Amino acid sequence: MDRVIYLDNNATTMVAPEVFEEMRPFFSERYGNPSSLHSFGGNVHHKIDEARRRLAALLGADENEMLFTSCGTESDSTAIHSALDRFPDKKHIVTSAVEHPAVLGLCDHLEQRGYSVTYLAVDEEGRLDLDELAEAVTDDTAIVSIMHANNESGVVFPLQEITEIVKQRGALMHTDAVQSVGKLPLDVRKTSVDFLSLSGHKLHAPKGVGALFVRRGTPYTPLLIGGHQEHNKRAGTENVTSIVGLGKAAELAAEHMEDEQTRVQAMRDRLQEGLVAHCPDARVNGGGSPRLPNTLNISFGYVEGESILLLMDELGICASSGSACTSASLEISHVIKCMKVPEMYAHGSTRFSLSRYTTDEEIDYVIEQVPPIIARLRELSPFGRG
Ligand SMILES: Cc1ncc(COP(=O)(O)O)c(C=O)c1O
Repeated sequence: MDRVIYLDNNATTMVAPEVFEEMRPFFSERYGNPSSLHSFGGNVHHKIDEARRRLAALLGADENEMLFTSCGTESDSTAIHSALDRFPDKKHIVTSAVEHPAVLGLCDHLEQRGYSVTYLAVDEEGRLDLDELAEAVTDDTAIVSIMHANNESGVVFPLQEITEIVKQRGALMHTDAVQSVGKLPLDVRKTSVDFLSLSGHKLHAPKGVGALFVRRGTPYTPLLIGGHQEHNKRAGTENVTSIVGLGKAAELAAEHMEDEQTRVQAMRDRLQEGLVAHCPDARVNGGGSPRLPNTLNISFGYVEGESILLLMDELGICASSGSACTSASLEISHVIKCMKVPEMYAHGSTRFSLSRYTTDEEIDYVIEQVPPIIARLRELSPFGRG
């Protein structure tokens, strides 16, 4: 089948045509180094400044509070390492158990180097217990790193309340907003978050570019040290094309956020209702919590996520599963596990994530095609039902 119905936008998004057009000259005739003193390079520098202004505008930040990085992972690492470097006597980090591996992997690495990490649990709806957060932050806590929205469940955490608690206790606050930037209105002036990470390829900019908001006055040490790029906050010659692309993508997101996200949410809700209505034994994960407008995480009982994905793939439908196939076993994702989804459902967890390019016709097609797939798999189910 030639047709691709791409419902895996939390994994990555298509580069918007307008973004690609804006990037194009910087692959060819405008190849100058932004650090050069001649105007051929200087003009490229102006374009980076413009991208920074556009991105800052999307977040309500000041342009000199934004620095470009190579990805969301680098932004997360920069924030956490910076806090640990600036507060060498503090050896404790607080995070949530449902963070992306960009944060969890780093925390694991730091634990092996003598830091202690508190991983906050979530309930069945994917929500944090803010009292537990308040208790977890101590005088020894250098930084709290809690995501804004979860990539798997789409559940959105109350950033403002979380930040208030953390700042009252005197720790630095970082949020991984990789999944929410461009999907939810975000204003850094409405919270006192110190660091906020984002990634280009989740908002229709290319892969390999990210950014970090560092509030003015927040103690900061760069992760990459060397040249003077990014106002001494991140050494290395800038990825000009991708930065230009991220700036344009931020501008597009800001312009169209409200109507686009309303439209996307309506499609997501229709997909959810259609699948729940036509697939017996389906449950929506995080459905009772505030969620990203584009994300549906649904568990089909008594079937296995990888098989659903394979059969959908034959029909050109791209989604993602809540379980990761390892060589030895089918492991349930840490997020689904933390949400205590019963085992018979957990294996059949599937994530559909929409974008502004998703159409009603595509949603109709998925609602039509997925229920027979589930029914077919149940007949063959190793889970003893069918
Ligand atoms: C919540 C979250 N944080 C961090 C990342 C990592 O971003 P990048 O791929 O740009 O390193 C992702 C990517 O999936 C993500 O969803």
